[in-house]
Amino acid sequence: MTTPRKLHVKTLGCQMNVYDSQRIADVLAQSHGLAATDDPAEADVLLLNTCSIREKAQEKVFSELGAWWHAYKQARPEVIIGVGGCVASQEGERLRARAPYVDLVFGPQTIHRLPLLLNQAQGRRAAVDVSFPEIEKFDHLPLPRATGPTAFVSIMEGCSKYCSFCVVPYTRGEEFSRPLLDVLTEIAVYTEQGVREVTLLGQNVNAYRGATPRGGVADLAELIGQAAQIDALARIRFTTSHPVEFTDSLIVAYADQPKLAPHLHLPVQSGSDRILRAMKRGHTAAEYLAKIERVRAARPDLSLTTDIIVGFPGETEDDFAATLALVEAAGFDEAFSFIYSARPGTPAAALADDTPAEVKKARLARLQALIERQSKAYAAALVGSVQTVLVEGPAKRGEGQLHGRLGNNRVVNFAGPEPLTGHLVDIQITAASAHTLRGEPVGSRHAA
Ligand code: SAH
Ligand code: F3S
Repeated sequence: MTTPRKLHVKTLGCQMNVYDSQRIADVLAQSHGLAATDDPAEADVLLLNTCSIREKAQEKVFSELGAWWHAYKQARPEVIIGVGGCVASQEGERLRARAPYVDLVFGPQTIHRLPLLLNQAQGRRAAVDVSFPEIEKFDHLPLPRATGPTAFVSIMEGCSKYCSFCVVPYTRGEEFSRPLLDVLTEIAVYTEQGVREVTLLGQNVNAYRGATPRGGVADLAELIGQAAQIDALARIRFTTSHPVEFTDSLIVAYADQPKLAPHLHLPVQSGSDRILRAMKRGHTAAEYLAKIERVRAARPDLSLTTDIIVGFPGETEDDFAATLALVEAAGFDEAFSFIYSARPGTPAAALADDTPAEVKKARLARLQALIERQSKAYAAALVGSVQTVLVEGPAKRGEGQLHGRLGNNRVVNFAGPEPLTGHLVDIQITAASAHTLRGEPVGSRHAA
């Protein structure tokens, strides 16, 4: 048996998966000395961290796995192929029926058991563990290693909202919050390695209820307040939040915590009260608008983004018109929109869905055209303004070009020396295209 040396992790899906993939690399570096590589051809262990939120994402898993098998494992049978994430969680043992060359299967909550599973797989025994031991995961992970000036920090796992279309509560389990001190320690470990911005992650971060050392409970606003006291930390973001449970304490945080970025991603899904009810979202369109009105009053420069589902079962032309009206009324700066995809095991999958696929596609196109208009207008309005940018590193294209992010989460490219990475720089925005901005530095701050 050869000793594996290199690990390739490919991530599909959401930011939670991006976080988990990083922790997978941390855990296997510690246990097996595996070095991470971006090149699957040189890897001895290939792991696919999967997503099952829509059918397309799920189908991608099997095409990726098949490609890995053909390209690498057929020639080198000692290569280990593993599957993690939400498809693994949902399919478990069944996954190996469809892809028998898969050596190990692990769920989002069993990452810390990977060293054991890898040993088992190396012994040529298929290893499957997709259980939900919840908080155990975090207690058994090594301290994280930073990979740049920004980092994701998972503050809670799972979701207990059970929106009728969504598979997450079944694949990731019920909500479970990490203790306050654990989260703050992780942030501090990152800032000691040069991280200046953290994104607090969870499927429904408003439901964060972290145990405090004195036996109390901290909510998201309190967590943000405590994190803001870490001097080296310049910016705090969080995602995703749910309109219900978007508490007053969080609205106050937008007014009182300058380190909290002026951006809110608040999924609305639909503008029709009838559809919102069928989705079990727990609020009306008017309640959503009233809520964001209050957040904007607390933080006037707020950038608001959302997620929308088109073609939920029974959606009529009137329902869809209500969604378009809400997109305009809310003034979203950006939105992710998806055609509804029936997920096995969710309540909505049992509903009659008689809207033809072409109608759904046409609705999506109309919605996206509206969003594109709003997004462009928002970007154009930034031209001429001076914005504080956290420099993230060299830009993808262009010698001497850097890229960074504004508080509102938009990316800006500008000319500058690489040592500026990790610093806050004031940039005057000079041009705006659909999704990126260009700018020029007008001075740098926090240079230490
Ligand atoms: N926790 C987040 C959502 C996680 S999933 C929340 O608070 O809403 C990310 C997005 O995928 C959702 O906001 C939704 O717009 C979309 N989505 C989820 N399930 C879907 C499905 N079955 N079909 C199409 N889109 C879906
Ligand atoms: Fe899914 Fe709704 Fe939770 S969209 S992740 S069940 S808030």
